[in-house]
Amino acid sequence: MTEIPNQELLPMTAAANAAGRLTVGGCDVVSLAETYGTPLYIYDEYTIRAMCRAFVGSFESEYPDSHVSYSSKAFASPALAKILDEEGVGMDVVTGGELAIARAADFPAAEINFHGNNKSRAELEEALDYGIELVTVDSMYEIDLLDDVARKKGVTQQVLLRVSPSIDGHTHLLTSTGVLDQKFGFPIETGQAEEAVKHALDKSNLDVAGIHFHLGSPIFELEPYTQAIPYVLEFVAEMRKHGLEQRIFSPGGGFAIGYVSDTPPPEISEYAAAISASVREACDSFGLDEPRLILEPGRAIVGRAGVAVYSVGGTKDIPGVRKYVSVDGGMGDNIRPALYGAGYSVVKANGPAEPVAGNVTIAGKYCESGDLLAKDAPLPPLETGDVVAIAASGAYCLSMASNYNMSLRPAVVLVNDGEARLIRRRETYDDLLSSSIL
Ligand code: LLP
Repeated sequence: MTEIPNQELLPMTAAANAAGRLTVGGCDVVSLAETYGTPLYIYDEYTIRAMCRAFVGSFESEYPDSHVSYSSKAFASPALAKILDEEGVGMDVVTGGELAIARAADFPAAEINFHGNNKSRAELEEALDYGIELVTVDSMYEIDLLDDVARKKGVTQQVLLRVSPSIDGHTHLLTSTGVLDQKFGFPIETGQAEEAVKHALDKSNLDVAGIHFHLGSPIFELEPYTQAIPYVLEFVAEMRKHGLEQRIFSPGGGFAIGYVSDTPPPEISEYAAAISASVREACDSFGLDEPRLILEPGRAIVGRAGVAVYSVGGTKDIPGVRKYVSVDGGMGDNIRPALYGAGYSVVKANGPAEPVAGNVTIAGKYCESGDLLAKDAPLPPLETGDVVAIAASGAYCLSMASNYNMSLRPAVVLVNDGEARLIRRRETYDDLLSSSIL
């Protein structure tokens, strides 16, 4: 088989065919671009399922009472929800909108956890009406609000309390959630987490099943988890004096993926071994029963499975400075480079194995000079009409997409075994205008 660069960053089925073009899931990426237009997001079902199995398998072998709950903010789609359900993976939602996606797929309510730092009464009512398993509460206001909603519905809602462990996950400031000075969770350090435990245990319509924390995203190291877990479990042990009986413990998500080849993430099995050992050891030293463990990967389930495909338009070569190649998407469908300075690897879809000719900067089509998808990426020669694929685009691209410049959000296809299925159609001008009132 022809070798293609960045193979380990692309979907597991990525290959080059006899025509010298990139294929994913047995489908020719250039043909998909012709059929569905560009920008196009292609998701490889094989990779999604393989990642679900890697999580479920690795954690179950290390810690049998574990459960994987996909964080749907990474990419939410009813077609994906069906796959997750078939793979025995649950779903985290953070809005009524994400809950609506789960409901559209008849996703089992017993497998849904509702997160978020400011859920509305309406969202909580929708969630309780659907009968979801867990709500992770994040403020005193929400403890009162949820208890009230549950009482009016005549139910007792199982909850986790989100705490903040004051531990730095060494990730981008904008996605760092374990440190003290950020908006999520009750800080343990200040005593506010203890107050929250007491307050929640006092509520007759809340059943406090345990504690959750999330360090941030992506976390490329194991140590932040192995530091935070004993710290939080020691807190859980102390809270027994107020009557807390832990059944569930969730160290969140944050599992990294490769975006560029010189920054490889840990294996899923390494995260599983480190987290499981840490939970077990901490329970042992603090005299706690081993809880059910909930893991919440988002990015690691769908990130590698997705590629974003664009057509090359104009180019601009500034002698001695930089070569820009403009494509027909950009920050509207992938805000990550502009927002976090995120790096990406690019493949020429109509010539993945062609030799590199130099570095080019892939620019988007939006009216901002910061709208660059990849800076100085090593690529073969590119001309108008070529098709480029950006690896590892499956997480937090479409889910953060906007209609900036009144552009249309891309179509999405799911590929598997040589078959492509449209799972989201490209938006139209009618979609754009449907909410406007003249
Ligand atoms: N659990 C909780 C409570 C979370 O807040 C998150 C992500 C996850 C799980 C899943 O994290 P993951 O496994 O996907 O790393 N837009 C940013 C990422 C924001 C993540 C927010 N919370 C990005 O594009 O990098």
